[in-house]
Amino acid sequence: MRLFDTHAHLQDTRFDDDREAVAARITKDGGLVMDCACSVAGAAQVTAFAESHEGVYCAVGIHPHDADTFTSGSIQALRELAKKPKALAIGEIGLDYHYDLSPRDVQKEVFAAQLALAREIGLPVIVHDREAHQDTLDIIRAEGRGRLPGVMHCFSGSWESAKIYLDLGFYISFSGTVTFSNARKTAEIASRLPLDRLLIETDCPYLAPVPFRGKRNEPSFVRLVAEKIATLRGTTTEAVANAAFENGQRLFGAS
Ligand code: NI
Repeated sequence: MRLFDTHAHLQDTRFDDDREAVAARITKDGGLVMDCACSVAGAAQVTAFAESHEGVYCAVGIHPHDADTFTSGSIQALRELAKKPKALAIGEIGLDYHYDLSPRDVQKEVFAAQLALAREIGLPVIVHDREAHQDTLDIIRAEGRGRLPGVMHCFSGSWESAKIYLDLGFYISFSGTVTFSNARKTAEIASRLPLDRLLIETDCPYLAPVPFRGKRNEPSFVRLVAEKIATLRGTTTEAVANAAFENGQRLFGAS
């Protein structure tokens, strides 16, 4: 069984004391990690770390929380970092109307600009959508123009919206939230989704799966996400993990 954590934040300060060991716990067995940036400065960090760590890939982008750090030079800076051989996606990008840490009109503008960049350079996108379902979909439709592969990370929408994203060619990714007892809707989607469009992730250091809920999360815990989805689908952890691994390789071109 090979694990692919398609959404991690290894540069978070909570990994400052043991980042190498944390990464090694998944990569030592042939596992892969997609280390996602949240800002231009973060994008420089993830690309540098990925370059020197086997099994670690990265996504460069500005998170909706950090949309107000966007400047006229941001796209060019991301374009340069995206040329690095281990930068395989534009992310984490999207909209977050739960926290509203950046003004919504700025979030929308920055999201659209990064989708346009992804289309221009031919990289898939890693999308964050929290309580902004309609605007997220509208912007993806407008900017993607049907030619933008990507993943809806830590999916929190309905089955109907999952189907719309499948039709757009997107993958759907599940995090530790699928293990939470109150995640009925997410669990239902995880049980019905075509296996060839499903990804797994941790979003670490956040969202640790049960039984580590509330503690620091890490990429190797993605196994627990696969385990839960396997239970929901009546199959083996290995079958889910291997399918999700191949899906991640196909979407991102990781080897
Ligand atoms: Ni994230």
